[in-house]
Amino acid sequence: MEKKIFTSESLRQLYLNFFKSKGHAVIPSASLIPENDPTVLFTTAGMHPLVPYLLGERHPAGTRLTDVQKCVRTGDIDEVGDEAHCTFFEMLGNWSLGDYFKEKMIPWSFEFLTSPEYLGIPVEDIAVTCFAGDGDCPKDEESAELWKQCGIKPSNIYFLPKSGNWWGPAGTTGPCGPDTEMHIIRNHAEADKLGAYDFDNAPKGTFLEIWNDVFMQYNKNEEGKYEPLKQRNVDTGMGLERTLCILNGKASVYETDIFEKAIAKIEELTGKTYGESEDVTKAFRVILDHTRTATFMLGDTHGIVPSNTDQGYILRRVIRRAVRYGRNINLPKGALNEVSKTIIEKYASVYPELTANAAKIEEELNKEEEKFSKTLQQGIKEFEKVAAALPVGGEIDGVSAFRLYDTYGFPVEITSEMAKEKGLTVDIKGYGAAFAAHQEKSRAGSEQKFACGLADHKEETTRLHTATHLLHAALKKVCSEEINQKGSNITEERLRFDFNFARKLTPEEVKAVEDMVNGVIKEDIPVVMQEMSLEDAKAQGFTGLFESKYGEKVKTYAIGDFSKEICGGPHAQRTGELGTFKIVKQENVSAGVKRIKATLTK
Ligand code: ALA
Repeated sequence: MEKKIFTSESLRQLYLNFFKSKGHAVIPSASLIPENDPTVLFTTAGMHPLVPYLLGERHPAGTRLTDVQKCVRTGDIDEVGDEAHCTFFEMLGNWSLGDYFKEKMIPWSFEFLTSPEYLGIPVEDIAVTCFAGDGDCPKDEESAELWKQCGIKPSNIYFLPKSGNWWGPAGTTGPCGPDTEMHIIRNHAEADKLGAYDFDNAPKGTFLEIWNDVFMQYNKNEEGKYEPLKQRNVDTGMGLERTLCILNGKASVYETDIFEKAIAKIEELTGKTYGESEDVTKAFRVILDHTRTATFMLGDTHGIVPSNTDQGYILRRVIRRAVRYGRNINLPKGALNEVSKTIIEKYASVYPELTANAAKIEEELNKEEEKFSKTLQQGIKEFEKVAAALPVGGEIDGVSAFRLYDTYGFPVEITSEMAKEKGLTVDIKGYGAAFAAHQEKSRAGSEQKFACGLADHKEETTRLHTATHLLHAALKKVCSEEINQKGSNITEERLRFDFNFARKLTPEEVKAVEDMVNGVIKEDIPVVMQEMSLEDAKAQGFTGLFESKYGEKVKTYAIGDFSKEICGGPHAQRTGELGTFKIVKQENVSAGVKRIKATLTK
């Protein structure tokens, strides 16, 4: 490959500029915390915040979009430390919302990959895979033909079944379709041995995936049938860190410019050198990855804090795992915060929210580190005691693993890792049973959410979304004009709304809010959507909660004069569709943030 050096900054810019030159609007990254999507805890792909538009809603910036989206995937948290896995990553992407399709996307992909102005990868080093076809959808000859026309040798075009060349639906239903993936050939001798259907038989390292173009042309319905979508979309994704690493010939994503300063900081703080031994390298990588993930979670516009449920628990786990690995290389107290500062600095121009929330990031990181440090030493002692009683290859029982969690704050993957280091295992099922027996909320539910991606825009969630706007407006009117949304999550059963307020609502306030919302529902007011510039929206009194989310134009939703919000939708047509609104629970999120859960019944 030609020796051109890329940096994270230059690669982001090249990608966005390329698609800008092809008529795409550059939109900002959405929040890491999905709004109104019950199926996932975090934004896991660039397409995720765009699901409503892929399903047919109009996007205010048009039908051609491009962005760099911050993403979190923690399904493989214990694989962090090898060369490819990160819990946080950025996805470069571009979308056609019912605009162009394969005929444009494939030549553009080819141009971006091979043109000396952009990535400059030699044509002969690129292999592509296309969908092999099955009973649901024919073989994707069209994509293969387009690649050939671009100049990809037929012997470098491979075909794979659904397991390899199909993307979505991430949930059980929704838009999906065949995809075509682009790979760099790292070992030509091995690649040359393969037939068109043998791609999966290649030894590891023969190919490195660099980009994925999804051609969303089907909707998987509730009977499992694939029906053609009325709007054909393109959804593409290129992992920034991975691509940087491949282009610059680095051994791992940790050796890219992204982590340069952070590595230097850890070296300075510990006196160790990155790469001096396998164990040290692994500890560095876990600390780098997890501190970055925690920094982005805490610094998000919908920022979260460590807790024992949902997103907050994932955050707690990544911080605690970093603290434990820090111990292995003598990382001093408060050091995560020092590492975090180098990360905030590195990303300052791309994600200004990190700088804006720097004080909160520092406070929460230090607090959580402190909390865990207090019990870590004792917990290690307790662990040693349990482990010493077991023979080599033995299993730590579920109750002991649960005690380590409950008393010493050890997330079970930390116990499992420590067990593995001693040649032991953990009875995970038994741990789950002990957990459930203590009537704590099971983590299993939230773990399952990682498996899915696409939001479920059933009528029920749409209605609850409209009710969320009514609740927000009523809270402002009943309790305080200062109240603003700090987070929102909707399942089919309930809405959950986080807002800044010092105390829980009194029973009288709860009743007043409920009565006010139900009054608006009774009036059967139409919900009116209008697109306008952000400036106009603000001038007309729409609250700009998600100001940074869109480019020029924004969607606004007005419910009479009662509620006026900037929001991506979707919403009910009229308030009369909502049913009866009821607040079912109030919780404390943190000192200044309260949470309300509410339902709608017919
Ligand atoms: N949504 C596609 C992916 O995540 C592009 O690979």
